[in-house]
Amino acid sequence: MLEKVTERIYYLLNDNTNERPALGLVKGDESCLVIDGGNSIKHAEKFLNEIKDMNLPPIDYVVATHHHWDHIFGLSRFDAIKIASNKTYELAKMYWGIKTDNDSLEDARRKNIFDELEIKMVKDNLQNVDILEEIKFDLLFDGELEINLGGITCLVKEIINPHREDGTIVYVPQEKTLFLGDSTYGCIKEGKGYFNRKKLVSMMEEVKSYDVNYYLCSHESICDKEEIIWYFDKLNMGLEITQGLNNRQDVLNRFKEVYNDEPSQDDLFFLESIYE
Ligand SMILES: [Fe+2]
Repeated sequence: MLEKVTERIYYLLNDNTNERPALGLVKGDESCLVIDGGNSIKHAEKFLNEIKDMNLPPIDYVVATHHHWDHIFGLSRFDAIKIASNKTYELAKMYWGIKTDNDSLEDARRKNIFDELEIKMVKDNLQNVDILEEIKFDLLFDGELEINLGGITCLVKEIINPHREDGTIVYVPQEKTLFLGDSTYGCIKEGKGYFNRKKLVSMMEEVKSYDVNYYLCSHESICDKEEIIWYFDKLNMGLEITQGLNNRQDVLNRFKEVYNDEPSQDDLFFLESIYE
């Protein structure tokens, strides 16, 4: 069974040890919509297995929140309309045709398509796959679109975000639920998140503009309002303190000046993660 959030909202828990993001589900009266296709056919099959006994209407739509492999490599297992933004479609092209032997994956690492950890994960998750074959999307969009599932409507919308060039969120107003994909995260380099200032501000503004009780972040699963407020407060602290400063010591000095205290480990993460 999936985790239940409301009568119409469910998700399969994320599994960070296997780089598996949470997969969301919105249940309409006539159709279901799934958020993200999983990191492999096996991941998608686990999801489908979990919903077998839930007596759901058919999954007619799957939305890819962005092009990253862990969100799309399971898509082809879904017999549904696969939806992505045009940006996601274009960016996903970098994967197609890559062979999964060691030399080819090492070559992909040199081209920054995968990092070292991702190569390990891709190998673990894609056993018996010799080549990454193109996943066909059925519906490409720019901006936003609305999908009526019968008795409930989903807003599928691109969002400017600090994680990647592409990003799609799914907002379900009736259930006050927002599926965020990876859009609240930084751009990961060497295991650490880096946030572009402008994109971060834009993402936070947009997320705050929706009336939401439940946020689904791909690698955390469900977050409530308090958790998002805590996270955004920390990000805002980072934005304020680092504004106009390039030097770490200046940043630390300003923090001490403003807060009359040393930064905690959490504070340091946010102070060291923002860039112009
Ligand atoms: Fe991602």
